Amino acid sequence: MDTGTAYGLRLGQPLNELAQVGPGTPYGEVLRRYWHPVAKVEDATTRPISLRVLGEELVLFRTRKGKPGLLHPRCIHRGASLFYGGVEDEGIRCCYHGWVFDTEGHCLEQPCEPDLGLHRDRVRQPWYSVEEQYGLLWAYMGPPDKKPVLPRYDTLEDLAPGEQLIVNDQGVGGGGPAVLDFNWLQHWENVMDPFHVPILHARFSGNQFTPEMALIPEVSYEYTPLGVRSIQMRDLGDGRQLRRVTEVIFPNLRVVASPKLSSGQTNMIGWVVPMDDTNFRIFTVARDEDSDFLAKLRSTHEGKPWKELTELEHQRLPGDYEAQKSQGSISLHSEDHLTTTDQGIAMIRRMMAKQHRAVAGGGDPVGVFFDESERLVRIEGGNYFEGAADAPLLAEAVDD
Ligand code: FES
Ligand SMILES: [Fe+2]
Repeated sequence: MDTGTAYGLRLGQPLNELAQVGPGTPYGEVLRRYWHPVAKVEDATTRPISLRVLGEELVLFRTRKGKPGLLHPRCIHRGASLFYGGVEDEGIRCCYHGWVFDTEGHCLEQPCEPDLGLHRDRVRQPWYSVEEQYGLLWAYMGPPDKKPVLPRYDTLEDLAPGEQLIVNDQGVGGGGPAVLDFNWLQHWENVMDPFHVPILHARFSGNQFTPEMALIPEVSYEYTPLGVRSIQMRDLGDGRQLRRVTEVIFPNLRVVASPKLSSGQTNMIGWVVPMDDTNFRIFTVARDEDSDFLAKLRSTHEGKPWKELTELEHQRLPGDYEAQKSQGSISLHSEDHLTTTDQGIAMIRRMMAKQHRAVAGGGDPVGVFFDESERLVRIEGGNYFEGAADAPLLAEAVDD
């Protein structure tokens, strides 16, 4: 008798307690205990824009005096959207009846009321804290009494002469759209999946990075104080070993060094920021002398960038987007069959579950600091060459 057929297949369930991001969901509440990049600094102007972050609709603007504001869009008077508001010196004026709110939601004016609103201080437009750092606007969307300090990262500090910070919000380095239309966790946990690199990005779809990345590494995984790291050893066959260290730092930071193998500590890190359960964005910041550094990292598919591929080429030469999107808008994690090489995935999921238990129990998740002296995060990820120091790489980058 045939067994294992698809007859009667039950589709299974996502790991909703890790995948969902909305208010009140287990990991949504973990995410809300940290700062998140929500836009580039230059996106906040006197023209309001709509943002969706962690399942919440928001309006971002910058007052005429230069202060960024992030407010809930539904005006507390009678609900017109502040997307249609007019930005003024101190805040934003609702188009409908002209109430004015500052960047902390205080109502400054109710123009049709006596004395511009005798009781205007009794209402508050819902708002979030915003700070600017590394060319990005960061929002804190959690309980006000749990607001941590905004972390800094050593790899983005102390720029050398000629170096600059390069900010990118256009999706993943391997190619794909700017807004990725599937659950954020499929992308974030992929960071701890070093074995897809030699398969998907080399054997299956042709070398999308460099020939070295086609070698199947020996991998070990470790918990760190802030997340999980993998250490990937590749014997380059010329007396050298490549030790590539990749990290995830809670709750959603990816530390992936250049797959084109620039040597030393990584000069770029990126945040996987959920818009909602089935869409996310990636904000990457790099330091380099070349302002095109990040654009030049994009992988190619038989020499073509992802955006120029035909449907047939997407099918024949898939990359990260095709693999991860095809897991589903939200993957059915209960149907996964994790094996020895999925150890990093299992470790992330275990550590995520631990954080939501900590938060649900009234504690703080990992990596949340309230003291300025603890705000500097040390980044370990990078490509470290060990052995003969001056041996060249196997070949130049395939698509430079
Ligand atoms: S709805 Fe905004 S002022 Fe009336
Ligand atoms: Fe990948």
